[in-house]
Amino acid sequence: MKVLLTGGAGYIGSHTALELAKNNFEVYIIDNLANSSIEAIFRVEKLTGKKLTFFELDLLEREALNDIFDQNQFDAVIHFAGLKAAAESVAQPLAYYRNNIGGTLNLCAAMGRFGVKNLVFSSSATVYGNPEQLPISEDAPITDAASPYGRTKLMIEKLLSDICAADSTLNVVLLRYFNPGGAHESGDIGEDPNGIPNNLLPYITQCTVGSRKALTVFGDDYPTPDGTCIRDYIHVVDLALGHLAAISKLQQNPGLVTYNLGTGRGSSVLEVIQAFERTNERKVPYVIGLRRPGDVAECYTDPTKAKIELAWQAQRTLEDICRDAWRWQKKNPEGY
Ligand code: NAD
Ligand code: UD1
Repeated sequence: MKVLLTGGAGYIGSHTALELAKNNFEVYIIDNLANSSIEAIFRVEKLTGKKLTFFELDLLEREALNDIFDQNQFDAVIHFAGLKAAAESVAQPLAYYRNNIGGTLNLCAAMGRFGVKNLVFSSSATVYGNPEQLPISEDAPITDAASPYGRTKLMIEKLLSDICAADSTLNVVLLRYFNPGGAHESGDIGEDPNGIPNNLLPYITQCTVGSRKALTVFGDDYPTPDGTCIRDYIHVVDLALGHLAAISKLQQNPGLVTYNLGTGRGSSVLEVIQAFERTNERKVPYVIGLRRPGDVAECYTDPTKAKIELAWQAQRTLEDICRDAWRWQKKNPEGY
């Protein structure tokens, strides 16, 4: 089966490429390398002993994208490509709408023109905003998002839903990720953010390796047991395997379906720091700071729907995330 991964050189895409290649899928990748390195693809090839087909291309280049679809009959597409820094999107909304929405429009047009019917889309728990109820199930109300980034995810979900309503032969799985972390157990691929990391786990590993001074814990006055925010941290390899389950679901012709991918377990920022210190026997330098605008106190999934309908469940623990994230950072102190 030929699967195209847009954004497949990135963090989640490269881990998914690895699991797909291991399971004998033919993997094709389109990425403009705006937030990734081609080295990730070389390493996936080395780890799997399989060749991936890579096209360095921006999804905004419509003609070149059509040529790739014309020359390759893909069975399914996993659409990871997008800009993802929530704070940056507040400062640069146009860049986010242009890239994330524009790229998706071109992709959907190419799929329509060349008869590709199956799509998995990388959405985010950010679409739930400040949840009214915990744990969060897929039928929880979708309100407004806290950032233009979040709104691009909401808009893409809606546009995919409209396209599916107009064409009953299309199959779309929307995957709402909770908080991905960790790395492949080899330590050869992992998260390599450009500049200052936005997310907690890469910030912790960079502080511990010494490339940043100290982590600022964003607020300890939330209504949670230790006052710090609670999130559902999911190992990136479990998340990658969720995409293989989604591809199987597409083959059942489900129309449009939505799944949360998380563990169902919430951990506070201080619990993550403690788990990291315990697992890796390293101190994490940190200070308590102010709340970060837009953060919600608690966010974790009800994993039941994915468990029943995708036969998928996260297997790895927070300790596994911390150990694997640190192995990657130690082996690659400056990333790729
Ligand atoms: P990432 O930045 O590592 O990967 C995204 C990839 O897309 C990068 O390799 C980038 O170069 C590429 N890309 C961006 N715009 C492109 C364009 N116009 N044309 C071609 N390639 C383009 O991010 P990730 O963490 O792997 O996230 C993958 C997807 O999952 C994103 O859509 C992101 O919004 C979503 N997501 C991520 C998280 C997270 O915490 N990492 C959480 C929820 C959802
Ligand atoms: C963030 C994004 C969200 C996106 C998700 C996955 C914001 C407001 N939200 O979610 O849109 O879908 O990433 O990419 O940016 N923390 C610290 N110090 C730090 C970094 C984080 O204390 O230096 C805390 C945060 O307050 C939060 C937790 O760690 O409580 C996790 O933060 P982060 O990794 O940024 O993920 P989210 O905020 O859940």
